[in-house]
Amino acid sequence: MATNSSWGGRYAEGPSAIMQAINASIGFDRKLWRQDIEGSLAHAAMLAHVGILTREEEAAIRQGLSDIAAEIAEGRFAWSEALEDIHMNIEARLTERIGEAGKRLHTARSRNDQVATDLRLWVREAIDGLDGQLRDLMRALADRAAEHAETVMPGFTHLQPAQPVTLGHHLLAYVEMLSRDRGRFADCRRRLNECPLGAAALAGTGFPIDRDFTARALGFERPMRNSLDAVGSRDFALEFLSAAAICATHLSRFAEEVVIWTSPSFGFLRLSDAFTTGSSIMPQKRNPDAAELVRAKTGRVAGALIGLLTVMKGLPLAYGKDMQEDKEGVFDAAETLALCLAATAGMVRDMRPDAARLAAAAGAGFSTATDLADWLVRELRLPFRDAHHVTGRLVAMAEARGCDLADLPLEAMRSVEPRINAEVYGVLTVQASVASRRSFGGTAPANVRRMAEDWRERLA
Ligand code: ARG
Repeated sequence: MATNSSWGGRYAEGPSAIMQAINASIGFDRKLWRQDIEGSLAHAAMLAHVGILTREEEAAIRQGLSDIAAEIAEGRFAWSEALEDIHMNIEARLTERIGEAGKRLHTARSRNDQVATDLRLWVREAIDGLDGQLRDLMRALADRAAEHAETVMPGFTHLQPAQPVTLGHHLLAYVEMLSRDRGRFADCRRRLNECPLGAAALAGTGFPIDRDFTARALGFERPMRNSLDAVGSRDFALEFLSAAAICATHLSRFAEEVVIWTSPSFGFLRLSDAFTTGSSIMPQKRNPDAAELVRAKTGRVAGALIGLLTVMKGLPLAYGKDMQEDKEGVFDAAETLALCLAATAGMVRDMRPDAARLAAAAGAGFSTATDLADWLVRELRLPFRDAHHVTGRLVAMAEARGCDLADLPLEAMRSVEPRINAEVYGVLTVQASVASRRSFGGTAPANVRRMAEDWRERLA
């Protein structure tokens, strides 16, 4: 096997086939081609600006890189595993096309600062794309929440009916979570938006480069302040993966609810043919595969985070080839999350809640028992603990009779607490229960309507 022309000067023989296979990253880092070309254009412009390259050389590099971009975009570029990675594939092709000037491009830089720059640019763009998708999903949820501000359903703890809530309130809970996800991505973007280029291999360079120039040209806030940190840190990627894993976890919880709610035993929601699949053997089935896959794909995203944390732990400064393993997880997590966001937004717009089933379930399981206890506290001034006890006895009584709390005759209630009067029935309905929860952040339809409108305005 031939030696690599970029570093093979002191090598008599080429690598073994296995060495080449384990070493090469071109199979996956070709995804960075746009960022790599963008970084090289900025670097060449800077080198010309400070007089390291002539204007003619820079112009030739610019033309060459733009031709190479066209070759790649049109699928005409011949990728070479022997050239290891995206950086050397492009540089070798550049020299092939423009000769001498191509060989000067790598002055005052290293693949170490180059790859750190490329990946930051890629993650920055991925964040911008995900942010737009998060916004779209939040808007879909807020629209459905406004539509269902009064649709009652059971609120659960431990997946046991707890107190009635509205479907709008439930959906808006996810809007809040996703809004924090956007905040996490925005924080990550702000911190990663510094330029490693010019750190060179690890120690900086003796050439009179202008790092502010390249930072500005690439849309970074500033150059990174320490060359070892610039080439040796991947916490920006870890932060991205962590935000992605948390976001995927939110989507997974929603997906789990869709799976449960569309099961005929619950029957809270229906999804159309667009987001379900049939069974090849059981003709009656309508399986929520999209939701199941959103739930499952969270594993890949969380796995990418754990994977890179494990790569980075124990790595001495500065660069180590271990870091080449950062990319696949980052790419896969970003692409997986994008697909999950799109699928979730699709399901949110597609789902048809069954208001009658939801209302029936909202009243089941003595879900207004807390309202009864609260009434005893408010109207009879029972201490809450005593009210809780009285209510417990009334629930047991209703359970024994096989009826709801609202169906217990007044005399029966009075046998437990003689001061109860007929007004109690006013708090035992599901509608009265949700309407009463007007505390800030509570589920009352009036609150939900206001919150949904507030989100829709903010997201418009
Ligand atoms: N392909 C390498 C990576 O992804 C680029 C940097 C290689 N640097 C080096 N000194 N071999 O990390």
